[in-house]
Amino acid sequence: MQAASSTQSTSPSLSYNRADWQRGYRSLKQEFDYWVDAVTGEIPADLNGTLFRNGPGLLDVNGQLIHHPFDGDGMVCAVTFDHGKAHFRNRYVQTEGYRAEQRAGKILYRGVFGTDKPGGWLANALNLKLKNIANTNVIYWGGKLLALWEAAEPYRLDPATLETLGLENLDGLLPEGAPFSAHPRIDPASVQDGGQAVLVNFAIKTGLSSTITLYEFTPDGKRVRQHAHSVPGFAFIHDFVVTPRYAIFFQNPVSFNPLPFLLGLRSAGECITFRSQQLTQIIVVDRYQPKAAPRILEAKAGFVFHHANAFERGDELVIDSVCYADLPAVDPDSDFRQTNFAAIAPGQLWRFELNLKTEQVQQQLLDSRCCEFPTVHPQRVGREYRYVYLAAAHAPSGNAPHQAIVKWDLQTGDRDLWSAAPRGYVSEPVFVPRPQGKTEDDGWLLTLVFDAARDASDLVILDAADLSQPVAQLHLKHHVPYGLHGSFTPQCFLS
Ligand code: CO
Repeated sequence: MQAASSTQSTSPSLSYNRADWQRGYRSLKQEFDYWVDAVTGEIPADLNGTLFRNGPGLLDVNGQLIHHPFDGDGMVCAVTFDHGKAHFRNRYVQTEGYRAEQRAGKILYRGVFGTDKPGGWLANALNLKLKNIANTNVIYWGGKLLALWEAAEPYRLDPATLETLGLENLDGLLPEGAPFSAHPRIDPASVQDGGQAVLVNFAIKTGLSSTITLYEFTPDGKRVRQHAHSVPGFAFIHDFVVTPRYAIFFQNPVSFNPLPFLLGLRSAGECITFRSQQLTQIIVVDRYQPKAAPRILEAKAGFVFHHANAFERGDELVIDSVCYADLPAVDPDSDFRQTNFAAIAPGQLWRFELNLKTEQVQQQLLDSRCCEFPTVHPQRVGREYRYVYLAAAHAPSGNAPHQAIVKWDLQTGDRDLWSAAPRGYVSEPVFVPRPQGKTEDDGWLLTLVFDAARDASDLVILDAADLSQPVAQLHLKHHVPYGLHGSFTPQCFLS
């Protein structure tokens, strides 16, 4: 899988083949439950716990194609590691919309990113009910497994069987239909909470102005803080970062024209326009000053979906983020399966240094390689750190599908890379610390890789200290459609 030359490439200069890549965007309709018996290498005996992954599992409803993968129904996978063995399970989140469409055998809802109900704009006009597809992330916290989608409340699942238990209002905190971000952050040692870990998350309501609500929960699920802040303008904020004191949000320069959405001509996602002449507003909220207005600093335009990490350094805040020179647009007339990668700006890792005294922001490109889905050691979240891991393109320049996992040493500038090219396509890496590990890179990276040669997916385990060869490749019996986010918990959930 690693360095073989390809006879499949559409062009000798490309590391990938579009037809291969497209095959990872097929629905997986079957739900599986089995012990993985085809393994290359050896599963580490001290890797114990459960990797949960979420992402769009259905790319069509009874043959009607979904227009954008972000609109696909959430399917959760669980890979449980138990003393050298691994068990795989996948199940659909039984959302109200999923069940209704499966019963009807057709698309009934409009998708945020462009999936229209058939019947043209009349059928879509004035139909403002969006479908909570619960497809973006999955976390285990406070004894609950939650499938997250940012525009509505989570769905709770049974962690052992992945059975859907219903909508989760977090002990009455979330009113019906309330947003709750899919990107919680875990502060590993909260200074205000006796040094225990807390889960920090946010919710955003937006229009002409926006309200950001911050929530913090202890490991037993108890809410310890909640406060809301109003900021001017429309805000499309998918992710955020925390430090011991702050929660930081990037309000990228976009505008929203709701008219085509209201008329049913465009999805909500297609009504967002990137404003490259405007500035990004960086919103800094003090986690412990609920009444204080957020500080707002300005940076050059750019679009950020995901941040890697942030930390405090004297009067400065340092934030590392994957930034695009332009918002990857959702074109209503094109099919994402036909994406022209070369025509789109790549995501690249940038460092933002905010001086809270002078309010100046310095920004610096750390590397030009196309990348996404950054992750760090969970104990380094919000702290000075050395290593960031990402899904990245095989080639050092240009925009392309993610085929490699990279590790950047921010101290020395060194990079390590494992590539699944030419026929493998990686997903978000999840870092799992080795029990009693000594160094920041003492642990494993887990990533699902679609192997077009086998037409199925592998769960690949890499040694984070040395990416040169996988520790193990678990060959699943089927493909897993390209997913979004997931998390690891040391609990071994098996039914
Ligand atoms: Co995300």
